[in-house]
Amino acid sequence: MKFFVDTADVAEIRALNDLGLVDGVTTNPSLIAKSGRDMSEAIKEICDMVKGPVSAEVTATDAAGMLAEAAKLRAIADNVTIKVPLTEAGIQACKALSDDGASVNVTLCFSASQAILAAKAGAAFISPFVGRLDDIGQDGMSLIAEICEIYGNYNFPTEVLVASVRHPMHVVDAARMGAHVATVPPGVLKQMFKHPLTDKGLAAFLADWEKTGQSIL
Ligand code: E4P
Repeated sequence: MKFFVDTADVAEIRALNDLGLVDGVTTNPSLIAKSGRDMSEAIKEICDMVKGPVSAEVTATDAAGMLAEAAKLRAIADNVTIKVPLTEAGIQACKALSDDGASVNVTLCFSASQAILAAKAGAAFISPFVGRLDDIGQDGMSLIAEICEIYGNYNFPTEVLVASVRHPMHVVDAARMGAHVATVPPGVLKQMFKHPLTDKGLAAFLADWEKTGQSIL
């Protein structure tokens, strides 16, 4: 399973990248706004740091506009993945960009039928938003199971990129279902380290070690 980091905060990406945990990065217009950065500059900096795919999202809502923006974003670095919304125009742009050799991440996916369209349009990634489905009382992870089953039935090469991840169990469930990628906010990635028995066990080991009066070095 690949881990993408779901943020445009360069410092946070650097810290996780130094841990060897980052296979790619996803951004969206809200994350760029939160970072307070110029989009092109932030994407360039992230692409220079991270070797894997870095998603940069278009903001035009018509296919021609999306393609014009995609051309500019693709020029930033070779590892830019163009993120388009799951609309008719987005799927049209996805097909054109994929045919032209671009890596495309189709975002804002909330149903299996939408995921089929993205795969048919040649998307490199489909981004189903599990947390936002949970928020409205639906089961986000059931959608991941459905898409993994459907893509597996036809050997679609489109990778399932679990997005809108809110807690470590989303990541664990995604891994159990065989999703290719989870894009994880830095805070959730840090939560994945935590278990109270680890802290308690380490404290006990250190206390016992202290009693021995020994030092390894
Ligand atoms: C990533 O590609 C998505 O834009 C992101 O995971 C959405 O997360 P949110 O629902 O927490 O905003």
